[in-house]
Amino acid sequence: MVEKTLFIIKPDATKRGIIGKILARIENEDFKIVELKSLKLSKKKAEKFYKIHQGKPFYPELTDFMSSGKIIVCLLAREKGVKYLREVVGATDPELAKPNTLRNLFGTSIRENAVHASDSKKTADWEISFFF
Ligand code: CMP
Repeated sequence: MVEKTLFIIKPDATKRGIIGKILARIENEDFKIVELKSLKLSKKKAEKFYKIHQGKPFYPELTDFMSSGKIIVCLLAREKGVKYLREVVGATDPELAKPNTLRNLFGTSIRENAVHASDSKKTADWEISFFF
């Protein structure tokens, strides 16, 4: 079944000029880019997007980081897209992410890990409606 999911290229990656490399990989993995936009989150909007992590020690720095620069937000579609995108993205910590995953290739720390992907179909629906 074709599933829609949400993908974000984070401020660390947009600053480093690797948007094209990341999107090329996404297209090479047979995702269709249904919608794409570039924007800068306010601190408030970053807090809302990551509200599930509210109260965790990394929440203030995460929301500072996510509102620190331009992000690219994409609505992607692919067969089994939600799970497949998580595999392409890799583990949260780039040091633990499998070789050739996006975070292994482009992440520099557990916070500045280059990209975000929805973790379930339910989350994907919520995250898509948050941005589109
Ligand atoms: P993401 O998949 O976007 O979801 C939550 C984000 O919080 C995660 O990627 C990281 O950027 C960040 N994060 C998760 N765990 C930690 C941690 N232990 N320390 C710092 N940042 C974290």
